[in-house]
Amino acid sequence: MTQDYLHRIRNQALRERVVTADQAAQLIQDGMVLGMSGFTRAGEAKAVPMALAERARSQPLKVTLMTGASLGNDLDKTLAEAGVLSRRLPFQSDPHLRKAINAGEVMFIDQHLSETVEQLRTRQLPPIDIAIIEAVAITENGGIVPTTSVGNSASFAILADKVIVEINTSQPEGLEGLHDIYIPTYRPSRGPIPVMAPESRIGTPYIPIPPEKIAAIVVTEKLDSSSTILDPDDETRAIASHLTEFLKNEVRQGRLTNRLQPLQAGIGTIANAVLHGLIDSPFHDLTMYSEVLQDSTFDLMDAGKMSFASGSSITLSAAKYREVLPRLAEFKQKLILRPQEISNHPEVVRRLGLICINTALEFDIYGNVNSTHIMGSQMMNGIGGSGDFARNAYLSVFVTKSIAKGGKISSVVPMVSHVDHNEHDVDILVTEQGLADLRGLAPRERARVIIANCVHPDWQPALQDYLDRALERGGHTPHVIEEALSWHDRLRRTGTMKPE
Ligand code: COA
Repeated sequence: MTQDYLHRIRNQALRERVVTADQAAQLIQDGMVLGMSGFTRAGEAKAVPMALAERARSQPLKVTLMTGASLGNDLDKTLAEAGVLSRRLPFQSDPHLRKAINAGEVMFIDQHLSETVEQLRTRQLPPIDIAIIEAVAITENGGIVPTTSVGNSASFAILADKVIVEINTSQPEGLEGLHDIYIPTYRPSRGPIPVMAPESRIGTPYIPIPPEKIAAIVVTEKLDSSSTILDPDDETRAIASHLTEFLKNEVRQGRLTNRLQPLQAGIGTIANAVLHGLIDSPFHDLTMYSEVLQDSTFDLMDAGKMSFASGSSITLSAAKYREVLPRLAEFKQKLILRPQEISNHPEVVRRLGLICINTALEFDIYGNVNSTHIMGSQMMNGIGGSGDFARNAYLSVFVTKSIAKGGKISSVVPMVSHVDHNEHDVDILVTEQGLADLRGLAPRERARVIIANCVHPDWQPALQDYLDRALERGGHTPHVIEEALSWHDRLRRTGTMKPE
């Protein structure tokens, strides 16, 4: 190995702690709780977990793994296949791990992303034995400079008994200065979190820990995985256009200005496409206070539409990453990466008044949203930050295509098979068919607006028929209760929600 990394370990004494990934992984014992960097495929530790998976192939080894959110480089797949994971939290998006979770082999705690470290700090979750954190550099005083995500790394490192640092030489040193590490004090005497605007800097540019806690340093050069988002299609463009028209009307009505409110957008193709749609809009000087910064954030900045973005990770397509990298110094003036408990903090979300755009798998005629469970039982990814944002938003928007699986499934159903966001946390629903504005409406009114605007024409008569018969029975939120999940039952039995 070359010595090219040495200048990145600015604390001289720590240079002696450089070991191989295998040696560092030996610190990890069966039954331990690990806290690892990584948030939506950005900035995860890469070498030590691989070495751990390798070790688990030849000796019994099970751990609890906490991260910020999902991991790249097929790490969740590799760890799941090696059988290392007994417990995993708070979010994942890997098909192999998903299978192990749904088979009951891995206990998955699907948690609001702002909450994990609050529960760790107050010992409501078992303590972290070892934190494994990817870093650009270690400062003179032992501070860890994270890479493309902050996630839960700061609290993991602060609360862990020992820390393993992975210095990743492929992560540009120019990332230093991007991060803003702030840890809230203990409750009930906690003061306000002083984020007054997306651009507020309130902490340090590194994770402050005593250098003696760093037990091992591993040098890697593996790149982050690129994002898997697809280009906008006709449906996602239509969703974006409905939302843009709605926001323009809010401006006309004097409820918003052309600067809108700070934006939050969830992961995935649809949310990215919706933000893209704002490029061709009259809005300007937009800001983001979100958790994941995707391609669209940088495209909006280049289009002169967005002036500042705060998040917890940067997750880009391969092409966008190549484009952004040489311009890091320019973008750094307009970006902050924060711990996810701050990027998603209910207090700050409420204070700043965010417009929050997240994705549903399905929603029902009254506006309850399922973002996580197929057929009420099969875990998809997890709630992620969507609940942190939706409950506290200025405007809580959920988007989805009106049908799934080639039209066998209607994404609008009589009753959702699992509730992540209840009707009280949902203001606006959008599909490619149209937009339902639920603000100020009672359940009976909501149902009419949703069926008229959001449902695919193939499913509209059946939903209207369901509502008509439910209304005959009466109630504040009328249902034909024995039929409420019959669409899902039919899908289970016949492979389609369509009537037999
Ligand atoms: N029933 C069954 N399957 C459905 C479905 C439904 N009602 N609606 C969508 N799907 C399937 C799609 O067919 C697709 O399947 P595939 O992977 O086999 O192609 C899959 O679900 C993903 O749907 P897609 O339309 O591609 O949307 P997406 O990539 O934008 O993901 C979520 C949608 C809901 C899964 C994703 O946004 C998520 O995990 N959200 C929860 C976390 C979150 O919101 N975080 C926000 C803060 S970052």
